[in-house]
Amino acid sequence: MRQPNGQSAPGKAASVPPLVVTDVSKIYTVRGRGRGKFIAADHVSFTIPPASAIGLVGASGSGKSTLAKMITGSERPTSGSIKFGDVAVERLSAGGLRRYHSRVQMVFQDPYAALNPLHTVAYHITRPLQNFLGMSASRASERVHELLETVGLTPAAQYAGKLPHQLSGGQRQRVVIARALACDPELMVADEPVSMLDVSLRAGVLRLLADLRAKRGLSLLYITHDLLGARVITDEILVLHKGRVVEKGPTKHVLQHPKHEYTTQLLDAIATPFATDGAATTH
Ligand SMILES: Nc1ncnc2c1ncn2[C@@H]1O[C@H](COP(=O)(O)OP(=O)(O)OP(=O)(O)O)[C@@H](O)[C@H]1O
Ligand SMILES: [Mg+2]
Repeated sequence: MRQPNGQSAPGKAASVPPLVVTDVSKIYTVRGRGRGKFIAADHVSFTIPPASAIGLVGASGSGKSTLAKMITGSERPTSGSIKFGDVAVERLSAGGLRRYHSRVQMVFQDPYAALNPLHTVAYHITRPLQNFLGMSASRASERVHELLETVGLTPAAQYAGKLPHQLSGGQRQRVVIARALACDPELMVADEPVSMLDVSLRAGVLRLLADLRAKRGLSLLYITHDLLGARVITDEILVLHKGRVVEKGPTKHVLQHPKHEYTTQLLDAIATPFATDGAATTH
């Protein structure tokens, strides 16, 4: 149950609806040289059960971000349906999308591009609190501090007034995550949230996502190239290849007994075991 102050309520997991993707395709029309139709998603179906974490894995160009954009409503499917509870995402009006975005938030790959270099950390997190939740300035300021602490940027007062360039990549991504949490979302779509971070910082941000998911009961769609990173935080994995789901199942099972040749290739391609990364850090 969502509360007016944007805090997570105990037992929220029970109120998060499933996200159901049914037979979704996305065909782009390519103009100019090489023009024609390009199938970026090809009859994709899957469900994110309430409060669970699903990994969407695949090589570059396999259609991961295309699916993320359709799930968050910034692209419409060419065919098929996406439902979050009883909300038909592909049919949302501008007003409906706005309400939807208070429930479904996205974290992108590049934390630097996601933040305005001219604005402070506090400004970035205050905006959704005021725009979506209508919080007063003083309550929003308190909440900014709570959210910074939640993502491990402590003491919060030390970070609130900083500009993005005064933070490390890992710290910036924590600010992006704090902003995404501001509206107390039910589903977070994280599109390669650690791929631009130094390897030594990745485990910390991944553990933060895993912790948030467990404590707040939100659902997570975690998009990555990295099967072993997905092992840390996902319950199930979907492997995408050329816009199609070629394998799906419980994460451990898929990693231990990959069925599809492409999944085996992805596993073979992993040079450095993720599990050897260091402990959680805020750097
Ligand atoms: N607006 C567009 N117009 C035409 N083709 C597009 C468009 N957006 C994406 N594509 C194509 O769709 C395919 C899937 O792109 P997408 O961004 O979903 O891949 P991805 O799996 O996220 O890759 P990466 O791991 O590199 O981020 C790519 O071949 C891409 O060129
Ligand atoms: Mg992508």
